[in-house]
Amino acid sequence: MQNHGGAGYQVPFAEKIRHGADMATAAVGFITDPKQADDIIRCGQADVVLLGRQFLREPYWPAHAARTLGQKDKLTPPAQYLRAW
Ligand SMILES: Cc1cc2nc3c(=O)[nH]c(=O)nc-3n(C[C@H](O)[C@H](O)[C@H](O)COP(=O)(O)O)c2cc1C
Repeated sequence: MQNHGGAGYQVPFAEKIRHGADMATAAVGFITDPKQADDIIRCGQADVVLLGRQFLREPYWPAHAARTLGQKDKLTPPAQYLRAW
């Protein structure tokens, strides 16, 4: 897998712009772990996290993250999935 840096390698840019320009930012770039994503938001480094390649590897990542972070009850499945959820 091509990689231009370590975990969250572009998060400092999102944080710097968020605070320097006082505008909402999204962080992207090697964000793969639910706790890592949660920490970025909780620490105020970005307003939202975006995942690219991790979604290709693990399309159900949001469900996995919700379980890992103890938020499974807040996860709303698509209506078509309700009978199987
Ligand atoms: C298959 C693929 C297609 C992508 N297409 C775009 C694109 O059209 N525009 C864009 O700005 N970034 C695109 N990217 C870059 C991603 O938005 C993201 O910045 C990059 O993959 C790093 O995040 P990640 O480590 O979560 O994948 C693409 C990435 C992948 C893997």
